[in-house]
Amino acid sequence: MSSDTSSQPSANQLATKAQAWSALFSEPMSDLVKRYTSSVFFDKRLWQADIAGSLAHAEMLAAQNIISQADYAAIQKGMAQITQEIEAGQFDWQLDLEDVHLNIEARLTALVGDAGKRLHTGRSRNDQVATDVRLWLRGEIDLIVELLRALQLSLVEVAERNVDVILPGFTHLQVAQPVSFAHHLLAYVEMFERDAQRMQDVRKRVNVLPLGSAALAGTTYPLDRERVARTLGMEGVCQNSLDGVSDRDFAIEFSAAASLVMVHISRLSEELIVWMSQNFGFIRIADRFTTGSSIMPQKKNPDVPELARGKTGRVVGHLMGLITLMKGQPLAYNKDNQEDKEPLFDTVDTLKDTLRIFAEMVGGQVNPHTGCKEGGITVNAAAMRAAAQKGYATATDLADYLVKKGLPFRDAHETVAHAVKLASQKGVDLSELPLEELQSFNSNVQADVFEVLSLEGSLNARNTLGGTAPAQVRAQLQRHRARLGQ
Ligand code: ARG
Repeated sequence: MSSDTSSQPSANQLATKAQAWSALFSEPMSDLVKRYTSSVFFDKRLWQADIAGSLAHAEMLAAQNIISQADYAAIQKGMAQITQEIEAGQFDWQLDLEDVHLNIEARLTALVGDAGKRLHTGRSRNDQVATDVRLWLRGEIDLIVELLRALQLSLVEVAERNVDVILPGFTHLQVAQPVSFAHHLLAYVEMFERDAQRMQDVRKRVNVLPLGSAALAGTTYPLDRERVARTLGMEGVCQNSLDGVSDRDFAIEFSAAASLVMVHISRLSEELIVWMSQNFGFIRIADRFTTGSSIMPQKKNPDVPELARGKTGRVVGHLMGLITLMKGQPLAYNKDNQEDKEPLFDTVDTLKDTLRIFAEMVGGQVNPHTGCKEGGITVNAAAMRAAAQKGYATATDLADYLVKKGLPFRDAHETVAHAVKLASQKGVDLSELPLEELQSFNSNVQADVFEVLSLEGSLNARNTLGGTAPAQVRAQLQRHRARLGQ
């Protein structure tokens, strides 16, 4: 079996793609069409996955006696040399050879001769590329999960220092009720944790082997696909060859999960930008994440969070691109699928850079001398507190107080609305109204109302699971620490 290679192109024929199938073609490909159809200048980043997939395939071909052990040894040797060449930046990537797969195969054949020509036995670029993208993406997902964890840790660290810092919580961006700043940050920790779980879930469907599907219908050689999957650490084998070579739903799913991460980052960015503005003055971020203005000397602009908010559009755009790419493709492989790579690569690059930069911007950087993190966000607790004291953030607490004194909630709500009206006419907070005045709205009001109207009293009262009471927030912090480690 291993000697029957007569139908495969020779090394020289592979050297220029235009010649590789020239027997059928009456004219060579124009330079423009070559440039239009080739992918090597972006898909070369799949080289490690491509070599790993080829080695696993070759090992199985030898184990199944489809090629000889000597051929397998030659392929291993050739691939080791190619790895060195690529790592050293000495590999001669050729546009004429269209893509990463043909470039590596041609070089292998140039290095080891016929053994290189036998590598493609029982394989097509269709199942090869689907395998490469999955292998590559699996590794990237693992990095992204680690980065999500690092960002969560940064948020937890800042939260731990700010459990008792109070800021106004908003609905409709109107002051609603006071909340702990730690509680606010932990809301993002929850979002990023679901993002990490989504990534891990997507990984299960990414980590399945298409190789062995060949061009579309399977292959005539007695391949052991399970063996290849085991070698590559994949969790299973695509069970239908037509599906295995053609669907890119795993990439779309990843892209959707990545879009959600960016949406969460974008929400956080929006808050950082607002909190940094002079009108709020709640926080500062380190200067290295801001830029000045070329005309207004006083400016320090939050470029990093603004760009992250902007890049969210780009990542969501890639999701739209990928999902539209798939729509309308008949079975099985179509060249349309070559267009999956640039959006996918850019999504991964954007996401990793954004997560890295946010972990540092929020939590700071480890100082090598002290071993402590420095330079994260600086919190202005006084400004947060002053803002929480405006806008009658404890009005609900007064209503709840009256309910506990026996008033139905709807009546209590109405009574407090009158009290707020009076306080705002006088330009004071509810807690600044004299007791007699509060009693004029309801005779059951006693001196203990002032504890209820305080910011601390308001927080402490919300002591149910998931609430903002410092006791609850501390319990959540412990849970996150136990989960995330140090
Ligand atoms: N460069 C191609 C891609 O990214 C590889 C598969 C090409 N297969 C084919 N039959 N032309 O999808």
